Amino acid sequence: MVILDQTRLPEEQVELELRTADDLVEAIRALRVRGAPLIGITAAMGLAALGRQAERAGIPRNELIREARDCAARLMAARPTAVNLAWAVKRLERVLGAPTSTDSPGLARRLAEEAEAIRSQDARMCRRIGEHGLALLGGGHRVLTHCNAGVLATGGIGTALAPVYLARERGMSVRVLVGETRPLLQGSRLTAWELGQAGIEVTVLTDGATGALFHLEPPDVVLVGADRIAANGDVANKVGTYSLAILARHHGVPFYVLAPTSTVDLEAETGGDIPIEHRAADEVRRGFGRTTTAEHATVWNPAFDVTPADLVTAVVTEQGICRPPYRSALRDAASSVTEPGG
Ligand code: MRU
Repeated sequence: MVILDQTRLPEEQVELELRTADDLVEAIRALRVRGAPLIGITAAMGLAALGRQAERAGIPRNELIREARDCAARLMAARPTAVNLAWAVKRLERVLGAPTSTDSPGLARRLAEEAEAIRSQDARMCRRIGEHGLALLGGGHRVLTHCNAGVLATGGIGTALAPVYLARERGMSVRVLVGETRPLLQGSRLTAWELGQAGIEVTVLTDGATGALFHLEPPDVVLVGADRIAANGDVANKVGTYSLAILARHHGVPFYVLAPTSTVDLEAETGGDIPIEHRAADEVRRGFGRTTTAEHATVWNPAFDVTPADLVTAVVTEQGICRPPYRSALRDAASSVTEPGG
């Protein structure tokens, strides 16, 4: 399968061919594709590609199932916080376990259908999140976001950025501010790039400048995505989100989390039950070539943090706007999903 290698943006748009299960796992682990919904879609597409490969090579059904299950386990371990990854992989695992397809070609076709269903369902969910989110924007269209929760993170127009794209589509004026998102710079490299492609005004600030922004020129609203939302409404998202939520509360700015119901994990009671991915020290020490950390220092590099539910003004899903108390609102949103596997 072919992916856009996001580690090369914004300097170059490079397509990368993934030929093996190892390539697929590496691409997800190295953030060549990233963003919770997109890694779920990529994993599903990758498992479907394994099916096509097996079909072409005449590999028997049982061997394909064994290979795909092994790959599924490695994929789920590659990025443990983003629950959409496990959600998508488990959907493909259900296809592998179903007795309906008796041969490799039949199984390969079913895997491809399920992967495409996940992608198109995500695209529809993004639009619906955008519609619900747009209704919340009111007259204020100076939006602060974090990391990248847009086209580059999903199968559609994004989650946190979906209302921005819809505002633009409808001729409303909208401006986006984004923190660079240390250490891998998804804000300055990816969000700024994709909004630029769409002709939307965007300003990048260093993560450390966010407090000054709230103090001097506060945004109208904060819109962020999520990697996993616990049953009580605690939200795991890119590290730095929690600080934004505290600033937003202190300055009276609404703080909205936008995510599909596939990001809600009702089995995680609270944020404390969400596994937080920690990444290599070298991302901080010499992320983009130069050594930027004194050698003797140790590094603490969590990829995500947890924002407590009481700092979240509302959670916007494709099913509508969930307000506190989140436990019942999220349960209702998750149980009203009617799409297959949703
Ligand atoms: O480490 P990343 O780049 O995969 O982190 C992405 C985020 O934290 C996004 O905000 C989240 O996945 C939501 S994407 C719609």
